Amino acid sequence: MIDPSTIERIIDTAEITDVVQDFITLKKRGVNYIGLCPFHNEKTPSFTVSPSKGIFKCFGCGKGGNSVNFVMEHEHISWKEALKYLAGKYGIEIVEKESTDEDKQKQDERESMLLATGFAQRYYTNNLVNTEEGLAVGMAYMKERGFRRPVIDKFQIGYSSAGWDTFTNEAVKNGYKTEYLEKTGLTIRKGERLFDRFSGRIIFPVHSLSGKVLAFGARTLKQDKTTAKYLNSPESEIYHKSKVLYGLFFARNSVTRNDKCYLVEGYTDVLSLHQSGIENVVASSGTALSADQIRLIKRFTKNITVLFDGDEAGLKASLRGIDLILEEGMNVKILTFPDGEDPDSFAKKSNSEQLLEYLNTNELDFVLFKTRLLSDEAKSDPVKKSMMISDIVRSVAKIPDRITRMVYIKECAAILQIEEKVLYRESDEIRRKNAERKLNYSFNDSGFKSKKESAQPSVAVNPLNERDIHEKELIRLLINHGAKELFPSDGKTGEDAVTVSDFIINELERDELALSNPVYNSIINECKHLIERNIIPTEKNYSNHSDTVISHIAADMLSSSYDISRIWKRKEAYVETEEEKLKELVPATILAYKSFLVRQELKETEEKLREAGNEESLLLQQRYMILKSTNIKLAKQLGNRIVF
Ligand code: CTP
Ligand code: MN
Repeated sequence: MIDPSTIERIIDTAEITDVVQDFITLKKRGVNYIGLCPFHNEKTPSFTVSPSKGIFKCFGCGKGGNSVNFVMEHEHISWKEALKYLAGKYGIEIVEKESTDEDKQKQDERESMLLATGFAQRYYTNNLVNTEEGLAVGMAYMKERGFRRPVIDKFQIGYSSAGWDTFTNEAVKNGYKTEYLEKTGLTIRKGERLFDRFSGRIIFPVHSLSGKVLAFGARTLKQDKTTAKYLNSPESEIYHKSKVLYGLFFARNSVTRNDKCYLVEGYTDVLSLHQSGIENVVASSGTALSADQIRLIKRFTKNITVLFDGDEAGLKASLRGIDLILEEGMNVKILTFPDGEDPDSFAKKSNSEQLLEYLNTNELDFVLFKTRLLSDEAKSDPVKKSMMISDIVRSVAKIPDRITRMVYIKECAAILQIEEKVLYRESDEIRRKNAERKLNYSFNDSGFKSKKESAQPSVAVNPLNERDIHEKELIRLLINHGAKELFPSDGKTGEDAVTVSDFIINELERDELALSNPVYNSIINECKHLIERNIIPTEKNYSNHSDTVISHIAADMLSSSYDISRIWKRKEAYVETEEEKLKELVPATILAYKSFLVRQELKETEEKLREAGNEESLLLQQRYMILKSTNIKLAKQLGNRIVF
């Protein structure tokens, strides 16, 4: 935690034009400055900086904010990292708020581990490029595979010599504690003896987003099938496999510039493509692609193209995983290589232009690709065909955006020669089931059983603005308490802690709810945006916001005169304890909102049922039943203690 007064000092000192001019050229125009926007491609400048207001705004792509926002956006770093950057620029000493001993210990441990992996990387690289064994064995192998020095140097490739403990001895000699060598998995202990994990292998360092070495992949030079082709660093305090993508550190700028990311399977694929001039490429490194990895890419682009080796079996197995990418609302394309080729071998066979041409002309939209692939296979088999249709519709139903879904359904219907209506119905059904399952969740409900109170309204509310009152309360909690931890992180599964912001956003998204009040909605979107960039939204993010509508609302809701929750106000004094009650207050507020919406819709459906003709009424009845049971479930979860 950086303490608030330091944050203020940094923001006050970091003069916007000065900060921006480190990255782009500005020209004075009237009271403002203008330049070419770094966040989108443009030929005429629409990027404007206002020194008096301390903000930037691009009228082309809409990005805007203060100097901290600019650094965050430009460098793809968190709020805290941006502050640190600015503090460094202006020589402001950062006073980190005292953290608990446990925090500190963890922090120290991570730093020590990173020092060890950093040393290991330099050691292995030096081995490869400067020692006799490294050159004769490791470098010879890399050269034979067609890798040249620039790419080897860029990726800090190394070589681990064939001894049992050469690395460990060297590290200990240089003062690195065996504790951290073991914790990073570089060294393995067997009783009293210490061994190197990697020996006689080519070393691929795995970098963090900011370029620190977190782990290693190590390829054997042997041909025999009994040796594992790759050995990898184990999971550790600094290396969470599912949260890292190989090559992203070297790809990020190119991904932003091209607004596209290629996803390949292996380390060597990444190297080969780089060597051929294609730098917007990352690898999932043998693990199934995870949602975290997808979100990592999403910070830089919404367009992913997955490059598959040319074998069918692997391809079908991977299709499922791709649904995950769709679910994140990203655009997915698929590119396959001729049988027996992978991106590495293909890149080696062709020159840069040929490769680029192949990439540009052979990518296929994922949904259509899947539809074609499966429909070939199921042509003459009606059972297979119906299974295939559900499979494809399941993918389409994952897409969050309704219009995109509609476009796909049209195209799939044409390929499959089946009525659009059928696909719509099927897709709606799947989405409804999913939504219902999500509504039917149950959080730690112990807090809800404690008190029974009258269900009589204590405040008379006009139904027309009842929705607004619910929404206002949600937003008030979000702005006042957004950064606070609602549920602590789970040490066992390594899940991150859930903040109030995370919880609220998640709950709205799982039921695809948008707030009816557009200003509140823009606050929700702002919050989402920050979370996507791994920033924990604080009150300042709203109160300092460049959009004055947001900063005004925030100021209003943060000011003490704000009339505390009309929904939750009860006889006992509650104001002092709001913070302590977040655990029940926040989920209950969400539930109350959802419950209100369900009841509203129930009422409307009831009315429609009364008027409906025969054809419609079956669907309406179904909907009515679903709403009814959802309503009961929600009411149960809420208990009787809420006073409206
Ligand atoms: N992998 C792994 N362990 C293995 C095999 C593979 O961790 N025993 C991971 C590696 O990250 C590897 C990726 O899966 O890069 C893809 O595997 P593969 O295609 O077999 O390896 P390539 O990277 O293509 O390596 P090479 O070109 O040297 O065959
Ligand atoms: Mn491969």
